[in-house]
Amino acid sequence: MDKIDTSVAHSARIWNYWLGGKDHYPIDRKVGDQIAEMFPDIVALARADRAFLGRAVRFLAGEAGIRQFLDIGTGLPTADNTHEVAQRVAPECRIVYADNDPLVLAHARALLVSTPQGATDYIDADAREPDTILREAARTLDFGQPIAVMLLGILHHIGDDEQASAIVNRLVDGIPSGSYLTIAHSTNVVTGAAMDEAVRHWNQFGKPPMTLRTPEAIARFFDGLELLEPGVVSTSRWRPDPAERSSPETDEFCGVGRKSSAPR
Ligand SMILES: C[S@@+](CC[C@H](N)C(=O)[O-])C[C@H]1O[C@@H](n2cnc3c(N)ncnc32)[C@H](O)[C@@H]1O
Repeated sequence: MDKIDTSVAHSARIWNYWLGGKDHYPIDRKVGDQIAEMFPDIVALARADRAFLGRAVRFLAGEAGIRQFLDIGTGLPTADNTHEVAQRVAPECRIVYADNDPLVLAHARALLVSTPQGATDYIDADAREPDTILREAARTLDFGQPIAVMLLGILHHIGDDEQASAIVNRLVDGIPSGSYLTIAHSTNVVTGAAMDEAVRHWNQFGKPPMTLRTPEAIARFFDGLELLEPGVVSTSRWRPDPAERSSPETDEFCGVGRKSSAPR
């Protein structure tokens, strides 16, 4: 197992700090506070992203009838992880998590508590090796049945556009028609220079580096899929619950696409 580096702020840990969790080190709190000072929206952004995860998984396990999830870039366990939300809707759901952070691996036991009817698994792997993830996920998921691939807050850690598209394409090619792709990705279209400055600070003091993309570039990850309404929008605007309708936009954009039977 890779050693946990407590000298540099890490994505999963700083995210956990902003979400109000307990699994972070002094360096994560220090850089987290510096970023929150220059970009006060960050805490709302992190919470809006998790609220989107909840609504998307409820939609997928509910209306869309999905029973299998592959959640890559899982993050540290927090309230309402993908398996908890999905198995509340349908206890037989099977969920595979994948992340490359050694602290997430150390906490993975909390992600492996499944309903008796369903299953959960964890893969210690890098998203840049989608073949490994698909192969190991097949221990738990039936690739003959639809699967929802979740890429929330991770593709902005893959700086090269071609590599990011290749990862998405490989994952989508590996799942059958009727499957779904869900993405959440940081932008700067809402807060502009403040977000740019926060990302510059992150890239100087945190790991792994972040690359912002436009909503149009995020939409291109769904090329060949049926992009569901309302398209690629700020996480707070994706099918908000009635109580969330007046939440402000944040610079985390998202979308959900469906793989139909037509070739991509
Ligand atoms: C900002 S957190 C998002 C957590 C969760 N998906 C959410 O939306 O709340 C990003 C996660 O992606 C993971 N990550 C970043 N780059 C990765 C890579 N190349 N392979 C696998 N995981 C990665 C980090 O370790 C971290 O847990």
